Amino acid sequence: TRPLKVALLGCGVVGTQVARLMTVHAEDLAARIGAPLELAGIAVRRPDKLREGGFDPALITTDAAALAAREDVDVVVEMIGGIEPARSLITAAFEHGASVVTANKALLAEDGPALYAQAEKYGADLYYEAAVAGAIPLLRPLRESLAGDKVNRVLGIVNGTTNFILDRMESSGAGYGEALQEATALGYAEADPTADVEGFDAAAKAAILAGIAFHTRVRLDDVHREGLTEVSAADIASARRMGCTVKLLAICERAADGRSVTARVHPAMIPLTHPLASVREAYNAVFVEADAAGQLMFYGPGAGGAPTASAVLGDLVAACRNKLAGARGPGESAYTQLPVSPMGEV
Ligand code: HSE
Repeated sequence: TRPLKVALLGCGVVGTQVARLMTVHAEDLAARIGAPLELAGIAVRRPDKLREGGFDPALITTDAAALAAREDVDVVVEMIGGIEPARSLITAAFEHGASVVTANKALLAEDGPALYAQAEKYGADLYYEAAVAGAIPLLRPLRESLAGDKVNRVLGIVNGTTNFILDRMESSGAGYGEALQEATALGYAEADPTADVEGFDAAAKAAILAGIAFHTRVRLDDVHREGLTEVSAADIASARRMGCTVKLLAICERAADGRSVTARVHPAMIPLTHPLASVREAYNAVFVEADAAGQLMFYGPGAGGAPTASAVLGDLVAACRNKLAGARGPGESAYTQLPVSPMGEV
C-alpha cells in the first residue's frame, strides 16, 4: 500500500510531540491505518528554534503555504494556532485535496462553520479533537456516541493553565505570577498566556462544545467571559473557609424550552465535596448531562505536548483510514441556529 503523506504545520510544544509519536509509533500506526505514514514536511517559522533535534533537515521548511498546498499530501496537521495564517493554510489544504487535523480552538470558535463548509465542498475531513480538553476524548463522544441522545448541559474545567494556577495558589501558596510561569514552562499555557488567564481559551472551547452538543452554532463573541485576573489569594482563602475552592468553569446550557442556549466562562466557588474540586494541576474535567444517558464525566490531562498530541494522532488515524476507504468521517450534523444568550434565562 502506498504511504499516506502527512504535512505538519507548526512544531511547537504539541507539534514536536506529534512528530515524535509519529516516529516512535510508526509500526503501530501503520497497522491501525492499513498503510504507513510518511512525514512529507514540517513547516516552522524559525528552524533554529526547533525544540528537538533528530528531524531529517530535508523535511524542515519555512514555506508553510507551499507545504499545505502540495498535491501529494493526504493530511495536513495544523499546529500553528491563531487565526492567520492558519485559516489560509487550512483552506489551501482542502483545495488541494488534503484532510485537515487541527487543535486550533480560536479559529474554530471564530470561523468553524466556514471551515466545515470547505471540508464538505472538497469531500475532505476536518478533525479537531485536540482543540478542547487536550487528551480527553470529548468531541467525538458528543458528536457520535451521544448522537441519539439529547444533551442539555456541558459544564466543566477546560483550561489547564488556569486550573494549574489556581491549584498552585491554593495548595502551595504560590503567587499568581510564579504559578503562571511554571504553567508556561511545563508547556500548558498558550504562546500568549493572556488567552488562558483572560478566559478566551476556555470561551473558545465553550463555543465549540455548545455548538456540537446542541447542534447549533456558537461563536466566541456569544460567550460571556470572565477570566482569572480578578481572583486574588484572599478570595481563594475565603472560599476555603467556606468549604469551597475556586475553579474557572465553562458552562453551556440548553434552555428548558429548547429555544435558546447559553455559554459562559467565569470563576466559580465549588464545594470541596464536588468532584470538580479535586481536579488538580492542568487536568480538565467536563460533565455532560443528557436526557437518556444522565450525567457523564470526562476527566484527564487537558493541556501539554504529549497529551494533546495523543488526541491529534487519534484524529490523524481517523482521517487516514477515511482516505484509504474513500470515505469521510461525520462532519457537522444538521444544525438549527438558536439564539445564544450569554447569561441564561431570566
Ligand atoms: N493553554 C491551553 C490550556 C492548552 O491551558 O488548557 C490546551 O488547550
